[in-house]
This record gives sequence, structure tokens and C-alpha cells, in this order.
Amino acid sequence: MSVLDRYALSRRRLLSVFGASAVTALSIPLESGKALAQVGFRTYPFQLGVASGDPAADGFVIWTRLAPEPFEIGYGMPMAPVVVEWEVSDTAGMRNVVAKGTAIAPPELGHAVHVEVGGLQPNRDYWYRFTVGKERSIVGRARTTPALGAALDRVRFAVAGCQHYEAGYYTAYRRLAEDNPDFVFCYGDYIYEGRGNRTNTNGGSPNENVRQHFGGEIYSLDDYRRRYAQYKMDTDLQAAHAAAPWFAVWDDHETDNNWVSDLDQDGTDPKIFNLRRQAAVQAYYENMPLRASSFPVGTSLQIYRRAAYGQLLNLNLLDTRQFRTDQPCNDKQSWCDGITSPKAEVIGAAQEKWLMDGLTGSKATWNVLAQQVMMMDLDRDPGEGVVVNPDSWAGYRIPRNRLLSKIRDAKVGNVVVLTGDEHQNFAGDLYIDGAKDKGAPIASEFVATSISSGGDGVDQTASWAKIQPANPQLKFNNSQRGYVLCDVTPKAYVSEFKVLDAISRRDGKLSTRAKWALEAGKPGIVQA
Ligand SMILES: [Fe+2]
Repeated sequence: MSVLDRYALSRRRLLSVFGASAVTALSIPLESGKALAQVGFRTYPFQLGVASGDPAADGFVIWTRLAPEPFEIGYGMPMAPVVVEWEVSDTAGMRNVVAKGTAIAPPELGHAVHVEVGGLQPNRDYWYRFTVGKERSIVGRARTTPALGAALDRVRFAVAGCQHYEAGYYTAYRRLAEDNPDFVFCYGDYIYEGRGNRTNTNGGSPNENVRQHFGGEIYSLDDYRRRYAQYKMDTDLQAAHAAAPWFAVWDDHETDNNWVSDLDQDGTDPKIFNLRRQAAVQAYYENMPLRASSFPVGTSLQIYRRAAYGQLLNLNLLDTRQFRTDQPCNDKQSWCDGITSPKAEVIGAAQEKWLMDGLTGSKATWNVLAQQVMMMDLDRDPGEGVVVNPDSWAGYRIPRNRLLSKIRDAKVGNVVVLTGDEHQNFAGDLYIDGAKDKGAPIASEFVATSISSGGDGVDQTASWAKIQPANPQLKFNNSQRGYVLCDVTPKAYVSEFKVLDAISRRDGKLSTRAKWALEAGKPGIVQA
């Protein structure tokens, strides 16, 4: 029995009477004869939208969080459990309901609801909605994965993340929703932890932010909840959640810039930082459509996990933060002995074994590593010596080379690495050591830019125009905002880099900047 099932059985804890200002309660009888509450709201309780996630062949998670007053202390909800009804239909208009039930929105979980719907048919669309009292959420679309081992002609999915709220509008999410992908892989930086700022210096000169974070830097559970609420009130983001199920993983900013393990960037005592992590981890679970198997325990949360799209694609979702050793070189772009430390870890021994077991046992055509930080070992300041980003795999030579060697030696074919974090688009190939070692690439990497982080951007910055020719493994670089649409068939894996001309205006225009592809069985990316 899951934690949430046990919770649901504890009916005596359910709300019967309360006096919060935004709601009124009316007791209604249930079959059991016990009184539950029907809630009346002064303001709309589904302002944070709906979401679905972690699809499987028989179902998915559906999510919402009740917050009628998102910025108030207690977000307008009574501090008591509230019953929410849910429905799943096989028609967009919700006429034919194929599954329904009630779930508890517990105050301990910020009145979030995570329903794991099962018993559905594989590889098909479903729609869902929630009801509380007389209030009804919008309808979201979800989609199950194909049956295990099924032959599949095609899967099409979007890769997105890094959505700094202050840096620009989420137009890319609106366009992504219109693409109607089978799923979305979100590589993290779903929120940013910093205080509200009126201005930024993206691009070198001072600019007015299009919008501002509410409040100061976030530390407490209330702070994190409010920050998620602010982001989730964006209707473009809501449209992307309502359009497709998401596989979400975190990166650093859901907690704090460049954190790893129990270390933050400021050298805070780990036991103090762990209190912040605990708040951040809980808020992440509360706000993401995750299964109960990812329920937070203290500072930890299981985000490395696997999904299969028939025989076509295996998705290995990785966690490059929780089990990583401290960044070398004091986390400054440079070169230092720590980069070749034999004790360094990026994903840790247990996750590495889990990953390799999955890759060697895979019968899928395409094996995707869906993760956060760049795996290409780029020299970021060509000239004398090598300069790497110590917060990427390049700062961790031993575990990087070990993983790539294992993939090569086990002859795991068609390995595609998907990445975020850089706030730029990149496409390139992966070798043990740059592109200097001869032979075929071991895998290829597509780095998706950001939804908004970094502001409007430019096609290619002056520094990257110099870096690219010095790093032959890197084939493509672009510094505009957008997302990557992956179109995968048994023959080819095509990544379409979609970019916006501006995100500082609401009417930014989307275009395809480039398409890079892999042919099955033929290592190395080519322009499509
Ligand atoms: Fe980011």
C-alpha cells in the first residue's frame, strides 16, 4: 500500500468544518455515513492548472494543486484534507468517462493531488479533469505508452526546461503545446530560487525584466510553494502541461544554483543546507506529476527512473545532482587536478549500475539518456591549456570516461544524450576524450536551450563562434530561446531545434533553426 493510499484511508482526518476566509464548507453524507466536506471557493481553486506525468502502458499520474489564493499564507486553503474528484475519458469532450474516483488533497502536501491512474489501454490519448465542490479544472490530455515490446513506427516528443520567469515570456511552451507531442522531457530548472529583480544584464547592458519573482530568495517550504505557484500561474506553461504527459527531472535551481549532494555554492554547513533541500524536495514533489515511488524521504527523492516506448525507444531519466561529488576547481571554469580525481562521481555507483544494467539489457532501437548537464567535454577557451565547465560532465573525467567506455565496450548502439542547463542549443558527438581519439563516436548529444533563461539571446555569440571550430565534436551551436522536438522512427532520430526571435515580447515568432539527425546503426550526427 502506498503512502497516499494509507493516507486516503485515514478518513477521520478529513475536513468537516473550517473557517478560512476564501472558502466555505458544507458537510455532505457519504455511503459510509461519515461526513466529508464539500468546499465552496471565493476564488478559482485550480489556478495552478493540471498536469499528467510518468506515463506507462496502463496509465499515468494526473496532478493538480488547490490554491485559490496562490500568494497568501496558506494559499487560501483550510489547513485540513480536502476531497477532490477526478475523471479520465477517452474523448476530448469528457463524454465517455473510463475511470474516476476521489483523492485527498492533504495540507501536508500543499493540497496537491497525485492520482496514479491504471487499467487503461496502451498507446492512446486520454483526457482528464478534477472537480472540487462546484469548481472544475481545465481538461488535460495525457497519453499512455505503447505496450511493452510493441513495434512502434514513431514517437515524437519535446525537450524543454530552464524557464527563468523574470527573463521572458513562455511563448515556447505555447508553441510546444500546439505540436501535440507524445510526451515532454523537462530537464529541470523548472523554477529559479533567486529574489525578485527589476532588471537584468543579459546581453551585457541593463534591461528591465518583463516580470519579477515575488519576494526574496527562497528557503522555506512556504517560499518554494509560492515560487512554484507564481511559475505555474503562467498560462503558456499550463498549456504545455495540459497538452501532454511530462517526464520531469530536476536540475540545480529547483533547490539552489549548482548544488550537489549536501553542498551548496556558498559553503553552507551541510546539515543546514539539508534543511533547505528538504523544503525544496518536498515542494518539487508537490508540484510535479510524479508517482508515489518518487515520494520524498527527507532530503532525497527518486528521480532516476526508466520508461519504454515499445521496441523503439528506452528513456533513462538520470539524476546528476543528488549523488555527485563537489565540483572541482572551486566550480570556476578552468583546469585543475580535481578534474581527473579518481574519487569523483556524477551519478554515483548505484545509479551507474542501474543505468548500465538497463542499457545492456535494452532491446530498444534508441537508448536515450535524459539528463541535465552537458556530457561533451568542450574546451571553452581554446588556446593554451584546456578550460572546462566544472559543473558539467567535463569536470568529472574519470566517471565520464568510465561511463562512455562501458557503453562502447558493451556495444550499446544508438545512444542519444539529452541535456539542458547551458541555456544554449548544442549538437555534437561523444568520445572518450574530445574528438581526438580515433574511431566512431560512442554516442551523440543534443543540448536544448532554455524556454526563457538568458533572455532573447542571439543566433551565435562571439565567444561560441570561436569555441566551435576548436571543438570538432561540436557540430552546432545557437543561443536563442526555444525547445527541441525529437522525431524518432526505427530508421532515424531527428532533433529539430525550434527557436523564437524574441521572448521579451508576447508575440515572438517561432522557427526551425536546424535539424540534426542520427541514422540507426550509424554513429555520428548529420544535418537533416
Ligand atoms: Fe537553467
